[in-house]
Amino acid sequence: MRIDILTLFPSMFDGFLNESIIKRAVERNIVKINIVNFRDYSTDPHKKVDDTPFGGGSGMVLTCQPIFDCVESLKTKDSYVILLTPDGKTYNQKIANSLKVFKHLIIICGHYEGFDDRIRLLADLEISIGDYILTGGEIAAMAITDSITRLLDGVISKGSLESESFNDNLLDYPVYTKPRDFRGIKVPDVLVNGDHKKIDEYRKSEQLRITKEKRNDLLN
Ligand code: ADE
Repeated sequence: MRIDILTLFPSMFDGFLNESIIKRAVERNIVKINIVNFRDYSTDPHKKVDDTPFGGGSGMVLTCQPIFDCVESLKTKDSYVILLTPDGKTYNQKIANSLKVFKHLIIICGHYEGFDDRIRLLADLEISIGDYILTGGEIAAMAITDSITRLLDGVISKGSLESESFNDNLLDYPVYTKPRDFRGIKVPDVLVNGDHKKIDEYRKSEQLRITKEKRNDLLN
């Protein structure tokens, strides 16, 4: 998969791209992540990318030209364009699973007070990562890129992906490691007696219990 992220703040992605699982996935050519500064596409002599809003109001608005030209130069028949905006569809694991099949994602990060509404015409999907306002789409782009990359074949083990929260609309079961007794807080006996049928039953019932307790909405 190739992911092009359009931003005015490319250096925000330095840490994200240079650590751990994402770094390894890039090195192994499972994903190519391309950070594109759409200011480079501005035809304005001063490389301006924003302007005052028609009708008045505070703040500056991202203009169409740099983003349209940038998307059009990157787009192929395999591309799927995502616009990050707080009024988009709320992101979740189901959307992550639906996006992992694309060969090429183009992710547009908004910034400042907003973007010219005509920029929405470029998008196949508008996404929000939650009901709160970020200063821009960069953190949302990292969240989405991370959640999709880890689903790509060969990035993390199939076993890890099978037993994690939100599969079958259930949260994950609790896990423990050594020591068996930490300050008097003991690991459940069922996990240390070697009976795998019992362990499976315990884990399933814990998934249900925890989901009911923390996220009853997932069960409806
Ligand atoms: N840009 C600003 N806030 C956002 C949010 N919650 N999700 C996606 N993009 C955003």
